Amino acid sequence: MKLSFAPMEGITGADFRRLHAQMFGGADCYFAPFIAPDPSGQLKVSRLRDLLPENNEGLPLVPQILANSSDAFLETARQLQQLGYGEVNLNVGCPSGTVVSKHKGAALLAEPDALRRLLDGIFAGTPLPVSVKTRLGFLSTDEFPAVLEIYNDYPIAELTVHARDRAGQYKSVPDREMYLWALAHSRAPVCYNGNLFRPENLAGLGATERFMLGRGAVMNPALFRELRGGQPLEREELREYAAALRETSRERLSSAHTLSWLKELWYYWKWLFPDEKKLLKAIFKARTLENYLQAESAIFTYGSFVPDGRFYG
Ligand SMILES: Cc1cc2nc3c(=O)[nH]c(=O)nc-3n(C[C@H](O)[C@H](O)[C@H](O)COP(=O)(O)O)c2cc1C
Repeated sequence: MKLSFAPMEGITGADFRRLHAQMFGGADCYFAPFIAPDPSGQLKVSRLRDLLPENNEGLPLVPQILANSSDAFLETARQLQQLGYGEVNLNVGCPSGTVVSKHKGAALLAEPDALRRLLDGIFAGTPLPVSVKTRLGFLSTDEFPAVLEIYNDYPIAELTVHARDRAGQYKSVPDREMYLWALAHSRAPVCYNGNLFRPENLAGLGATERFMLGRGAVMNPALFRELRGGQPLEREELREYAAALRETSRERLSSAHTLSWLKELWYYWKWLFPDEKKLLKAIFKARTLENYLQAESAIFTYGSFVPDGRFYG
């Protein structure tokens, strides 16, 4: 079984990954949130920082590129190779309107000629093995057989299938049936992604050996450990993890940025305290880090904690 931590822009940056690996572990590999080079392949300094080897020491990490031009992809892949990376991932799933309007991410699922051109260019010149993270379609998961016919023409190192169409964003029920069809017909090894929130969610996926966890592992950072037969999450370890994430963020970011990032994390952790509406409200209403710290301390001290969470996507 190979378990990976999904890329999540705005959440799973270098500090998050390092602390998760140190305090919980259990993931075989982390995927970095996408980087979107400009047409010449240049990266923003802030995105590069996230991928510098000194910020990711000892961490198995695969960078991800969001691009629709093979020149930009290849230039970035070369820079990543120089940083020491051994694989690069192509994003064919991002559903956001601004990304899709630029014909990138999930848009490529609706533009088979553009997808083919991109893959032709990438595989003609890539200095590194290339894996792909895809959705099952743009408007419908029924589009996948036609999309897979394209993927199967290339030596893709791994095909991670987020079992939704773009229209389903992060809410529709994953189409496990079409995923199983993909598993049976893909030339590349397939990894399953979508709504793996608790150990029992991994059942019913046939011969799948590779799983990618996103929101479930943000909510419950011990989920990888549990999947490997270890102990469920404990309140005190979440408390220590929250404190470590907070302090590392304070070293680098303004109080306002730290506060908004912590609130984003609580969007996931709140499911571990499903009966604590009032204590949670104090967290989301906090206007200063000081108010936040009081609210955080209150929920960890008095809140009733449910280790496997109640998040259903
Ligand atoms: C806030 C957020 C940011 C995300 N950023 C990325 C990203 O940078 N690249 C990517 O391929 N997928 C991204 N995703 C999608 C996740 O990697 C994953 O495919 C999706 O959340 C479904 O898996 P899950 O149900 O385990 O969360 C993002 C999802 C969320 C919720």
